[in-house]
Amino acid sequence: QDSLYSEKNRPQYHFSTRRGWINDPNGMIFYEGEYHLFYQHNPYEREWENMSWGHAVSKDMIHWDELPTALSPDSLGTMFSGSTVIDYENTAGFNQGKEPAMVAFFTVDNPEKQIQCIAYSLDKGRTWTKYAKNPLIDSKAKWNSKDTRDPRVFWYQPGRHWVMVLNERDGHSIYTSKNLKEWTYQSHVTGFWECPDLFELPVDGDKSKSKWVMYGASTTYMLGSFDGKTFTPESGKHSYTTGSIYAAQTFANMPQSDPRRIQIGWGRIQQPGMPFNNMMLLPTELQLRNTKNGVRLRSVPIKETEQLFNRVGQWASLSDTEANAKLTTLQSLDRFRIKATLKLSHATSAGLSLFGQRILDYDLNANLVNGVFYSPEDMTSTELSVDIYVDRTSVEVFVDGGRYSYSMERKPVSTSKEGLRFWGNRIEVKNLELYTAKSIWK
Ligand code: FRU
Repeated sequence: QDSLYSEKNRPQYHFSTRRGWINDPNGMIFYEGEYHLFYQHNPYEREWENMSWGHAVSKDMIHWDELPTALSPDSLGTMFSGSTVIDYENTAGFNQGKEPAMVAFFTVDNPEKQIQCIAYSLDKGRTWTKYAKNPLIDSKAKWNSKDTRDPRVFWYQPGRHWVMVLNERDGHSIYTSKNLKEWTYQSHVTGFWECPDLFELPVDGDKSKSKWVMYGASTTYMLGSFDGKTFTPESGKHSYTTGSIYAAQTFANMPQSDPRRIQIGWGRIQQPGMPFNNMMLLPTELQLRNTKNGVRLRSVPIKETEQLFNRVGQWASLSDTEANAKLTTLQSLDRFRIKATLKLSHATSAGLSLFGQRILDYDLNANLVNGVFYSPEDMTSTELSVDIYVDRTSVEVFVDGGRYSYSMERKPVSTSKEGLRFWGNRIEVKNLELYTAKSIWK
């Protein structure tokens, strides 16, 4: 494996494919001790083409083994995004008396339209049989639109039926089914585009105060309620993360003992000159929290990511000059992590730059973090906490415990002596923690 994943720009602690293009995560599911990550994949080239479902499995969502392509284009078209479920009660009749079927829902794309299809696997996702009577849903005419895609399916226990959320034209539709094969249209929520997700989350960990989250590819979301057929929004759309992330999806079928809602997003980060292209961002847990603005989503790297990092130092109450002296130990590394709390007593803006690239830029007056509006919980606060993950080609930043996060391409823009440094007028670095990072490929 070493030589396979040893290219110069290979992300060292994020999933990327051995070769070819990747985009959306697909069919993310936990089953029998394994996390499955399928993904939009061109196995042959670095460009978006020949859409197939690539496949990787992991025991910890950090270290991945790439398996053969799961779904390849067929006479109906190419394999677009979708989801998987485990049919424990054999509602579709695919089990053949063996282990429960893993059923994949995907969109087949062809020049004329996008139709919804299924395939099933009886060997933990290793081999797949496409359903002979595909497609299940062909709704182009109804919507007068080709954009009907990305089925997200889950079991709705109170109604004992399956639910499919499907992007149709200008929003997300809901369909229901008893057997995974015949689907009945129920309702539609406008204002979303591609890659739906819909899930229930407790507020502040309190199950009696849960809300449903309707989710789209751009990672905007609405909060509301869901009765198995209709999602009723209680607010407009919110956003909690920006940047390179797109088309994130969450793991299905998490065990009762671990009900975390864990997301992986596509990192739209080009890898020039490499035999592979794009990457997945760090897995994060989505949580609903009360804030002064109401209930909001936040995203926090999962605890499993901790195994990737070694803390090499921790300091309190440093001046910017003192903090910058500490940072020099990391600046020549290809990967690292920095946790810091900045106090802007005199400055109206401050941040962190890496060889000329502003990986953090906080404007206190305008409430902007890297150009995007962000208002800290306490508006008078002059403090900002950040958890920054730098890999060979990417930067991910989690602000104030994941209340807001963003991701970007890492651009080593200059070789100036000013490598890694805090900037701002006499800022105080109240807390600084530096970490080196391991590689998942060794
Ligand atoms: C989102 C998306 C999906 C589609 C897939 C095709 O990035 O456009 O809507 O299924 O990519 O690769």
